[in-house]
Amino acid sequence: MSHPYGIDNVLNAAGMDAVDLLRAFFLLAAATTFTVSISSSLRSRFLIYGPRATSTGSGPRPTAGNTSGLLDYLATWQVPHSYFTQFYIVSVLSSVFWGFQLFFRGGVFKAIASRVSEEHRLQSMSWTQVMICWLLLAMQGSRRLWECFHFAKPSTSKMWFVHWLLGLSFYLATGVAIWIEGSGTLLTRPLSIAHFQITNAPSVRTFFCVPLFLIASGMQHDCHHFLFSLKKYTLPDHPIFRGIICPHYGAECVIYLSLAVLAAPSGQLVNKTMLSCLAFVAVNLGLTAQTTKQWYMQKFDKEAVQDRWLMIPYVY
Ligand SMILES: NC(=O)c1ccc[n+]([C@@H]2O[C@H](COP(=O)([O-])OP(=O)(O)OC[C@H]3O[C@@H](n4cnc5c(N)ncnc54)[C@H](OP(=O)(O)O)[C@@H]3O)[C@@H](O)[C@H]2O)c1
Repeated sequence: MSHPYGIDNVLNAAGMDAVDLLRAFFLLAAATTFTVSISSSLRSRFLIYGPRATSTGSGPRPTAGNTSGLLDYLATWQVPHSYFTQFYIVSVLSSVFWGFQLFFRGGVFKAIASRVSEEHRLQSMSWTQVMICWLLLAMQGSRRLWECFHFAKPSTSKMWFVHWLLGLSFYLATGVAIWIEGSGTLLTRPLSIAHFQITNAPSVRTFFCVPLFLIASGMQHDCHHFLFSLKKYTLPDHPIFRGIICPHYGAECVIYLSLAVLAAPSGQLVNKTMLSCLAFVAVNLGLTAQTTKQWYMQKFDKEAVQDRWLMIPYVY
């Protein structure tokens, strides 16, 4: 059967189950980022972004004729750090799109869900799980978008254009990852009014993970507000930053961890697609937190920084 927008053809050409394809995307992106970070010359050119990159001065200059010159030249292909706003525009639009697709069983949803193997369809999320997880992801994208507009400050900091493209791809993939392991239920059981009843007692998972998600979101919001309040680059002295270099990154990991547990298909502890998504987030942010620590140690008080954890307590 052929489906709209060529989605079917794309998945067919890849010859892979849609769930495996998404997992492979997140893990490959995490592995590539990690590999690039091993070489200090690649790391400094292509991975460091935002305020951390400003400590090295005016940035790489193009020189012709050798590999280093070519790398320098490629590294000049940058976009403003403020393009992060586009990540959350894509995230919110993707949540709205998938909300409609799932609710009305649209063609794109059917094209992707029909590419999920029998094995993955048999162990499926419930409709309630899909709805809660979809809502939380939509809330996360909307809050971050709101913050991008309200906590924006003048800045010249930049990121490499591939980072920006990878970010856009990440949010597009996450929009699908949040429901894909519910395909078995979504395809076979129609949505009914019973799924909207809030009188049912929440599962233990929901009881613990939704508050965890909300607390981490609130903490991250406070961190972003505090960073916004700093008039120039400073060593953050907010209590939450005193023990941790990047608590906002730690909060992000907790947010994705809570989604991975909340979205666990029947009979499983965790949703492996969202866990792969978390692996990408953790690698990406862990490396950036490490660079932030080095930046703080060079620029500010080394003594005050060296004992701080990177993103979450007890992780250096
Ligand atoms: N899901 C993912 O894979 C992913 C990836 C990246 C980020 N994120 C999330 O997006 C959020 C923002 O990330 P980010 O990497 O952009 O954060 P960031 O580099 O810490 O920057 C956030 C804002 O704070 C400013 N800032 C940072 N450190 C400062 C300091 N020491 N003094 C004064 N101002 C400072 C930045 O200024 P400038 O504007 O001048 O740079 C920027 O406006 C984080 O919570 C993160 O978890 C998620």
